[in-house]
Amino acid sequence: MKIELAKSYGFCFGVKRAIKQAEKTKDAATIGPLIHNNDEITRLKNDFNVNTLNDISELGNEKKAIIRTHGITKQDLDNLKTSGREIIDATCPFVKKPQEIVEKMSSEGYEIVIFGDSNHPEVKSVRSYATTNNYVVLDENELNEVKFKNKVALVSQTTKKVEKFMQIANYLMLKVKEVRVFNTICDATFKNQEAIKSLAMKSDVMIIVGGKNSSNTKQLFLIAKEHCKDSYLIENENELDYRWFNNKKLCGVSAGASTPDWIIEKVVKKIENFS
Ligand code: F3S
Repeated sequence: MKIELAKSYGFCFGVKRAIKQAEKTKDAATIGPLIHNNDEITRLKNDFNVNTLNDISELGNEKKAIIRTHGITKQDLDNLKTSGREIIDATCPFVKKPQEIVEKMSSEGYEIVIFGDSNHPEVKSVRSYATTNNYVVLDENELNEVKFKNKVALVSQTTKKVEKFMQIANYLMLKVKEVRVFNTICDATFKNQEAIKSLAMKSDVMIIVGGKNSSNTKQLFLIAKEHCKDSYLIENENELDYRWFNNKKLCGVSAGASTPDWIIEKVVKKIENFS
């Protein structure tokens, strides 16, 4: 059996940057998990004494606080600033962007629509910058009952699919006089999505490596599954089952944006041993 890696996979620019910042900072706490990968979080704790807290209320004696790639809410940021701690802001610049857009458009009187999961920390952080009416939706029909005034700005969670984003934009354009559309979907996600699609189309089995609570990884898994029914989502090599590879000719491998290379290498090595 041949094993092929997707043309683009794994760590994105934002996560690489956040991990470097955490390694350099040492002896710090991150507000919420720095990335969606339990093994990497454990490594940062063991090797660099970087602890993970659930939220800002858990901060104790730590003098340094790291803001994760998803960002935190404006209110939490203000509280952190007044606490006097050193702040290391690892918010991904691609998340900063929609935060800034929402703040600016709100200040100009635009109502805000965010395409995303309302419970996702990134969406919470972006939404917190809105000062006008704001709506978080996964589908345009959720806006059917909304009576918009006359101008709306639309942004997206960075990991969402562009096709659905366009549907929501089209819907808004028929409903509201002035619509400002900001495509804030992250390039890295898009590249990984395109790459997994072409690999899944020719593979007999697909392995996607990543955190099970990472929306980015789940999205990759769904695309893989659409084009290759034998697709599996795993967090590390221990979850592999040799039966998945019986009579298969090509195994495609990809990984979510928060998956470190060392985990992917271990997975590939184990699959090699099966074939
Ligand atoms: Fe940033 Fe995109 Fe990664 S938003 S954290 S570069 S997936």
